[in-house]
Amino acid sequence: HQARAQLDPAGTCGEAVTPGLGPHPAPANRTGPRASPPRSALTADSTESTHTSIRKPSSMPRKEPRGRPGSAHGAVLLLSACRLTESGLSMVDWHLVKEMKPPRTQQEWEAEFQKYQQFPEFKILNHDMTLTEFKFIWYMEYSHRMWGRVGWLSRPMKGRVLALCGLVCFQGLLGWYMVKSGLEEKPDSYDIPRVSQYRLAAHLGSALVLYSASLWTGLSLLLPPHQLHETRQLLQLRHFAHGTTALIFLTALSGAFVAGLDAGLVYNSFPKMGERWIPDDLLAFSPTLRNIFENPTTVQFDHRILGVASVTAVTALYLFSRKISLPHRTRMAVTSLLAAAWVQVCLGISTLLFYVPTPLAATHQSGSLALLSAALWLMSELRRVPK
Ligand code: HEM
Repeated sequence: HQARAQLDPAGTCGEAVTPGLGPHPAPANRTGPRASPPRSALTADSTESTHTSIRKPSSMPRKEPRGRPGSAHGAVLLLSACRLTESGLSMVDWHLVKEMKPPRTQQEWEAEFQKYQQFPEFKILNHDMTLTEFKFIWYMEYSHRMWGRVGWLSRPMKGRVLALCGLVCFQGLLGWYMVKSGLEEKPDSYDIPRVSQYRLAAHLGSALVLYSASLWTGLSLLLPPHQLHETRQLLQLRHFAHGTTALIFLTALSGAFVAGLDAGLVYNSFPKMGERWIPDDLLAFSPTLRNIFENPTTVQFDHRILGVASVTAVTALYLFSRKISLPHRTRMAVTSLLAAAWVQVCLGISTLLFYVPTPLAATHQSGSLALLSAALWLMSELRRVPK
């Protein structure tokens, strides 16, 4: 064990299994004011171990201990398996990021095995071990260490991480389903093959949800919440911010219909569409509802309206926020939102006027993410802190 401690100060075999008694000293004041955010854990130098960085009591969320017994239980089972198979010393080094991936090629495995052969466990106990046997004990230890890393997440956070993993898989499936629509042969159509606008919108929508959920999780971990004075105006501002974020989300989603139908090429003037404010062919398709999703003119018209409504809402939100006394960081979020909204609308108009050149269209698409991020940042700034 001594040799092990020197080789692997961050080793988890036998460490993360006993909450309160393990490597984490119990935080001095669990019920006290909310601890500062775990910045240290997230910005830690990659040579520092996860356990070293989360050991600081001040970086522990208040409800941390509740989520741990389940994972500790799993870790105990893995630990005993490690012990029974004598796998615990098979990984002779451990870095936070570099060693997250197991060896992939035969060469890498042999190099890993050779490292292990330098140590007493191999020399004394396992000198006749084959590479296959080594792989088995290595994976036992690896799964235990990875489990140890997940162990420090609180129960709600574990739920979120699992949900995000599920969304990533769903996103992949949707992507495949979308591309399939572009590859299918359509005997009656002489059009350029393109993916269905519905599937494109579903794919973009799911990407936006995944992005928003990850960003929200990150922001709630990184940014210490403000103890805001719960006045009526603040409540209104919070509702306003939520509504505006929803509007931005909807505008971005409608953009996917514009892109999917190449609707950016039907009218290339602004603010009028051609000679008119409301084009003739706005409701050319029947039944009427089909126009919203399938008529390029209507799709472009809706996207313009939503885009202009979004920038108007953001500007009104900015003006309203100026009447309220807010912390400096929150002010920065409102100002960033205002700037992002105006840049985004200018990009959208330029994309239209220049007949959708790829660099502009791509910048307009990234702009929608920047705008959504600023809106989520503001929502996170204004979030209510449970007493
Ligand atoms: C808050 C404002 C806006 C947001 C969040 C937004 C968002 C988006 C998004 C996400 C796309 C899809 C990009 C893609 O998937 O390739 C898009 C496409 C587009 N948007 Fe906007 N947009 C906004 C405002 C506008 C405005 C005001 C205009 C023009 C008047 C406009 C014109 C376009 C055009 C022409 C496309 C099609 C680009 C292509 O074919 O790749 N947008 N928009």
